Amino acid sequence: MPIAETKIVSARFDDPEAKNIDAYEKSGGYRAARKAVRMDPAEIAEQVKASNLRGRGGAGFPTGIKWGFVPKDADTVYLVVNADESEPGTFKDRHILYWDPHLLIEGMICASRALRVRNAYIYMRGEMMREYKVVQAALDQAYAKGYLGKRIFGSDMDLDITIYRGAGAYICGEETALLSSLEGGRGWPRLKPPFPAVKGLFGKPTVVNNVETIANCGFIVEHGGKAFAEFGTERSGGTRLLSVCGHVEKPGVYEVTMQTTGREVIEEVCGGMRGGRKVKGVIPGGVSMPVLLPDELDVPFEFDALQRDERIREVEVHPGQKFDLGGGRTLRTMAGSGGVVVMDETTDMTKALWRILHFFHDESCGQCTPCREGTGWLVAVAKRIAFGDGRPGDVELLADIANGIAGNTICALGDAAAWPTLAFLTKYRDEFVAKIPRAARAVTGAAAALETSP
Ligand SMILES: Cc1cc2nc3c(=O)[nH]c(=O)nc-3n(C[C@H](O)[C@H](O)[C@H](O)COP(=O)(O)O)c2cc1C
Ligand code: SF4
Repeated sequence: MPIAETKIVSARFDDPEAKNIDAYEKSGGYRAARKAVRMDPAEIAEQVKASNLRGRGGAGFPTGIKWGFVPKDADTVYLVVNADESEPGTFKDRHILYWDPHLLIEGMICASRALRVRNAYIYMRGEMMREYKVVQAALDQAYAKGYLGKRIFGSDMDLDITIYRGAGAYICGEETALLSSLEGGRGWPRLKPPFPAVKGLFGKPTVVNNVETIANCGFIVEHGGKAFAEFGTERSGGTRLLSVCGHVEKPGVYEVTMQTTGREVIEEVCGGMRGGRKVKGVIPGGVSMPVLLPDELDVPFEFDALQRDERIREVEVHPGQKFDLGGGRTLRTMAGSGGVVVMDETTDMTKALWRILHFFHDESCGQCTPCREGTGWLVAVAKRIAFGDGRPGDVELLADIANGIAGNTICALGDAAAWPTLAFLTKYRDEFVAKIPRAARAVTGAAAALETSP
């Protein structure tokens, strides 16, 4: 069953009443928060670890482990919810913010108890005016009832939550850029380490988590980590939200099981391809993630499965010496932020890549040279290929530039431009070459350049 039978984060989607705190409570809301404020913080953290909850913001990092990095003796710890959601193709967090703001607030109360946080922030994408109004109204209701502020729910816990609105820069979704912006500075990423959990907002230990990640915390506190873990796979608990867009019959936001494959997403969840056309490519987790071919879709769209390739079998001949039995290419993509972009057979892949690269170049903060200069060159070369002005050697040039960016920048925006480039070039190479006039002369050396693709 691809659609999750137990809906953890989307149960109240489409219910306009749920924004109201009384209706939210009637449907079981704030039970977890009441329980959490009387629990030992360490016990909540243990339950989150046991839940196998993994971050839904992009990297899929285990939440319990991240929380464990916060020094135990810290006098001040901050929680920051990343609600900047700007990755093209990703539009799931805004559904939680708009339809179920109290679920997020309740999750923040639970997380704050575990982390001994007294001041928490929601860093919200500036363009989300509608969501901002809804979440602010929900916060006001929670304050009025004594669920936020001093001695919440009559316990010994104080908690204030403040919304901070960004000004529309995609880079401010990167956690260290977000913290710089929240401090009032320019949204520039910082080198890691130190990681925010050790030195974050105003130099204090700070946990940055995605909206969906935190929205799961109430369920974990109420039902236990084990119950949450059981919904998922061995290393990834719970369900996940996918925002699906592109050439499917029913695009939208869906809560699915971790076991759901890409093909099931298209065929069963989204009603098939629009107009019965054939699928040409699917980006599984926001446009920074490498694209998948039609024959790579029978893989669960979850964190581990998308990174490995079942068809490649590695055996260890001697300790440390691996032998590849062959059998196919590796998928080497990621589940990312859950933004699924489906492209049908009519899609011009050269134009799709150009459009993606245009976005990353536009959003580069300009701090490091490979990203600032490299993304500019990627766009220029991709554009001339896409519009029929490509030159001999341009495919190799694109791959070369991408390889020069990947792994050589302060933050992952550089990789976010390089990875899709290398994947598009590897998987749709003939289409790129065919767009270059007298392309036959331009193919030498491309294979070598693509060797180090992600
Ligand atoms: C360029 C860039 C943009 C990002 N944008 C977002 C975003 O909009 N929302 C988000 O939750 N994480 C985003 N991330 C990931 C965050 O840096 C961070 O890993 C995440 O918020 C951690 O939360 P999680 O552990 O709950 O996933 C972005 C990362 C990069 C490199
Ligand atoms: S990789 Fe790009 S966005 Fe990230 S710090 Fe460097 S220039 Fe800025």
